[in-house]
Amino acid sequence: MSADERRDDQATPPSGYSVPEESDQPDTEQEDAPNPWDLQKQEAETEPGERTTAVTFEPEREGEEEDDEFKWHTGKATRDESAESDAVEFIDVKKAFGRNTVLNGLNLGIPEGQISMILGPSGTGKSVCIKHMVGLLYPDEGDVLVHGESVPNMRDDDLFEMRKKFGVLFQDGALFGSMNLYDNVAFPLRQHTDKGEDEVNEIVSRRLKEVGLGGAGEKMPNELSGGMRKRAGFARALVLDPEIVLFDEPDSGLDPVRTALLCELIKEIHEENGGAYVVITHDIMSARRVAEYIAILWKGRIVESGPASELFNSDNQFVRQFLSGEARGPLGME
Ligand SMILES: Nc1ncnc2c1ncn2[C@@H]1O[C@H](COP(=O)(O)OP(=O)(O)OP(=O)(O)O)[C@@H](O)[C@H]1O
Ligand SMILES: [Mg+2]
Repeated sequence: MSADERRDDQATPPSGYSVPEESDQPDTEQEDAPNPWDLQKQEAETEPGERTTAVTFEPEREGEEEDDEFKWHTGKATRDESAESDAVEFIDVKKAFGRNTVLNGLNLGIPEGQISMILGPSGTGKSVCIKHMVGLLYPDEGDVLVHGESVPNMRDDDLFEMRKKFGVLFQDGALFGSMNLYDNVAFPLRQHTDKGEDEVNEIVSRRLKEVGLGGAGEKMPNELSGGMRKRAGFARALVLDPEIVLFDEPDSGLDPVRTALLCELIKEIHEENGGAYVVITHDIMSARRVAEYIAILWKGRIVESGPASELFNSDNQFVRQFLSGEARGPLGME
């Protein structure tokens, strides 16, 4: 646990990720699953009412050390200030853990109604970004808006409501090991709604079928392959009809064929349900397959962002190197 983060037992996990009451089984699957109560809530340091609304992009200053570090960052289209339709916006967000500055003036807009991908080298702050969106981490400076509302300035009950907009697919599906698939997928509905079992059954069966797990409701998570677990996690992320779906590396640990199938599934389900999807990945092939919008994060800022077709034709050397996965270029093993 980081000294920078504070255990807050009042912290509300994102919708659908509350902890089941019987937690005494030392199940390996359960140990793997992130316990939402362990996802620490960062205390907001922003004064209420001190919300930053305007963004100023710092002009490049010649001769300063910063120039070198950020020389590949174009600052282009990192956030369209006139766009009112962004589902999530980061405005000049700074976040450090001790001396480790992770986000360093991040400006980013996640467009409504599209599949966006956030790409970037390991350890660059992609998961930290996701945690800011659902209010599990708060910025040191700047603001994060979800549908125009400032997340760090939300009261706890508003934050709880806001989290219901999100479906989150954690790495490895994060299923509860002691529950079969059906109960895993039903869990958010039983926890967050007062729907009767008939309606729960209708929704769970539909969502399981949609992800190709129609007959697998009775199976326990440890009987499933990695790909099936991810699909089950996806079904669970969708049961509350979220407006924004976050996928943290949905393709990690999958073979190329299963990755391709999962990408197809993400596209199909997005087509059917709409909303803003944010997919975090290292996998350039996945980005080629599903991304409509791409943002590349590096050194705490967006190097470049925009429609996928533009990014794949970028003349920025860093972007070209990253999207082609070449060893030669500005990105090294630092
Ligand atoms: N709770 C925390 N306390 C302290 N440092 C943290 C915390 N969360 C993240 N960090 C640090 O922030 C940096 C970014 O981490 P993050 O997990 O967001 O990277 P990432 O881009 O998701 O990487 P990967 O692609 O490997 O998943 C890392 O240096 C990490 O050590
Ligand atoms: Mg990560």
